[in-house]
Amino acid sequence: MRIFFALSLSGQCKLAMEQWRDCMFPRDLKAIPSDNFHITLAFLGELPSHKLDTLCTLTDDYLNHAQPHAFDLHVNECQYWTGSGILWIGPQNWPEGLTRLHKKLGHIGSQMGQAVQKKSFQPHISLFRGRTPVPKPISAPDFQVHCDQICLYESIQQRNGVRYDPVSSWDLAKAHYKKTGSRPRRPIKRSTV
Ligand code: 2AM
Repeated sequence: MRIFFALSLSGQCKLAMEQWRDCMFPRDLKAIPSDNFHITLAFLGELPSHKLDTLCTLTDDYLNHAQPHAFDLHVNECQYWTGSGILWIGPQNWPEGLTRLHKKLGHIGSQMGQAVQKKSFQPHISLFRGRTPVPKPISAPDFQVHCDQICLYESIQQRNGVRYDPVSSWDLAKAHYKKTGSRPRRPIKRSTV
């Protein structure tokens, strides 16, 4: 199975991003379906399905130890990557904890024997994929995105495109725990979909 960790986005957030995209760009470009919008944390590639339980247990252990909390991102940047042919939106700045999550989940992938990319991390949501450079939008995106769930997705190739099926998910700790000073340790539970 082809898998990756990502921050999932609410339906409302995906809809707002899709509406912004439809207003800003020509309709004839190869748009990514809004159902597929997410922020990739670590792409693990092909993993034999019998290794899935170990991967999820390592992830449980890390998240229960680190107790990362939910956070907000200001998505205010839009760029086109010529190498991959992706037009994306994402934050110009993001909390250090997000980079830590990216590194740690990539590290868990490496522990499982997966070849994890070492590219520098730019959190992003891919909106278009294609070789035709996309014109810059007339106004920058401006979305407040609340990130409170990590999801392990399976990427499934279909005749009419790719589908991302959630395999497991973990809710991040509520942010207000951080403000109390003494954060009650609460198990971060995995939900298997
Ligand atoms: P993206 O994050 O830029 O959209 C599933 O394929 C997801 O993992 C996609 O969202 C994809 O790109 C991301 N991804 C990161 N590295 C990848 C790779 N080497 N091959 C395929 N997808 C990758």
